[in-house]
Parts: sequence; structure tokens; C-alpha cells
Amino acid sequence: MQREIRTTSDGSKTLYISDLNENYHSHHGALQEAQHVFIDNGLNLVNDYEINILELGFGTGLNVLVTIDELLKTDKNHIVHYFTLEKYPITEEEFKNLEYGSFFSKQKVKESYQKIHECKWNETTEILPNFFFTKYHCDFFELKNLNLPKIDLVYYDCFGARVQPDLWEKPLFELVANTMKPGGLLTTYSSKGSVRRVLLDLNFNVEKKAGPPGKREMINAIKQ
Ligand SMILES: C[S@@+](CC[C@H](N)C(=O)[O-])C[C@H]1O[C@@H](n2cnc3c(N)ncnc32)[C@H](O)[C@@H]1O
Repeated sequence: MQREIRTTSDGSKTLYISDLNENYHSHHGALQEAQHVFIDNGLNLVNDYEINILELGFGTGLNVLVTIDELLKTDKNHIVHYFTLEKYPITEEEFKNLEYGSFFSKQKVKESYQKIHECKWNETTEILPNFFFTKYHCDFFELKNLNLPKIDLVYYDCFGARVQPDLWEKPLFELVANTMKPGGLLTTYSSKGSVRRVLLDLNFNVEKKAGPPGKREMINAIKQ
């Protein structure tokens, strides 16, 4: 499938798949969306000292970078174990052309961009002190075969239901829910009614939050 690089409204770039007419991020601003959905309504709501994060899917690595950037801002010195799944990795040329390092002022974040793309799949790498990163080259449904610790925070960042409806239905949410701790938070850019109903059915507390630029609402779901 052909992917091309596009610039979004906040100046940050994203990938676009023309066959699907689908972007990896909001065209209203890739960086703003990642910050709003996964940091302001995700990481910053978790108070534990040690945090296990699960991301579906890794894609360009932007969510990893906003996470590292945020962790470097706080003085809490969290220990983070970040697990991410990806079936269709981007190429070296693509990650270089996205130039995400240039959107962050901290040298450690810039260096992390190369490290998260170049480290080995299916192995844990300490990208920065206390930031342990494992990217799995696999299908989301293989989650059930991975031996993950119980997860505190899920970044649910699949392509939209228009192009991959099965990723927004009960079987995958159930697998994800089974990885999570009670009290764990799932955050996603989606605000679909059918997604809210599936999450309620799986015994999550579901909250509608204000969405990122260009989107009225998004979902936070807390596992009971
Ligand atoms: C919306 S993009 C993710 C964006 C990513 N978080 C980022 O910041 O770039 C969805 C990702 O899911 C991956 N994907 C699609 N179907 C998948 C599947 N069945 N299993 C694993 N990964 C899949 C895509 O290749 C893509 O990288």
C-alpha cells in the first residue's frame, strides 16, 4: 500500500494512505492530537510511579515521543514500560522524512526518535534511563499471546472504523481489557457511540472528553 507524507495544520507531518484515504493522524494537527488525546487525557491522568503503557499501533512513533517529552518535563521520575504493536512498520526513509525530531526542543527526545525506530523488534530496549521500550511486530489480535505485565494506560490509536471496523469491535477491546489493571485508563481519539457501548458492555466507566482540534469529542474509559 502506497504511503505519502503530508503536512498537517500545526506544521507537523503525518503519513497518508491514498488507497484507504486515511491519515495516520488528524489533518488538523498530528502533534496537537497526540498531545491532547494521549498526554493531556492519558499519561497526565495516571499517578502511579511505575507505569505500564500499551499502544495500538506504533506507526510513526509520534506517541512514544510525546510520552518521552512529557516524562522529561515532570520531576516525578517515573519508571515507564512502553509496549507497542505494529503489523506494517514504516520504512527508514519514511521516518527520516517525517522529521519528528525537529518538533521537539529536547535533545533526548530527538535522539529517542532514531532509537525507537532502529531498536530491535520483540526485544526490550532502555531508550532513556527508566524508559523501557518494546515494539512487537505483530497483529493486534496476537496480543493474547504476549506475556505483558498488567497495563495501567492504553493508547488506542488504530486506523478509523471506516477503514478497519473490526478493530473497533468487542473482540479486540476484550483482549485489550484483559491486559489492563482495574482502574487502568484507555484513551482514544474516537467518540463513536458503538465504541462507547462496547466499552460499557466490558464494564468500563466511559467518559466523553473534549476532542483535539477539529474534533468535538473523544473517549476516556476506566476499567472497573
Ligand atoms: C492510526 S495509525 C497509528 C499511529 C501511531 N500511533 C503514530 O503515532 O504514528 C494505526 C497503526 O496501526 C497499524 N495497524 C493496522 N492494522 C493493524 C493490525 N491488524 N495489527 C497491528 N497493527 C496494525 C498501522 O500500520 C498503523 O501504523
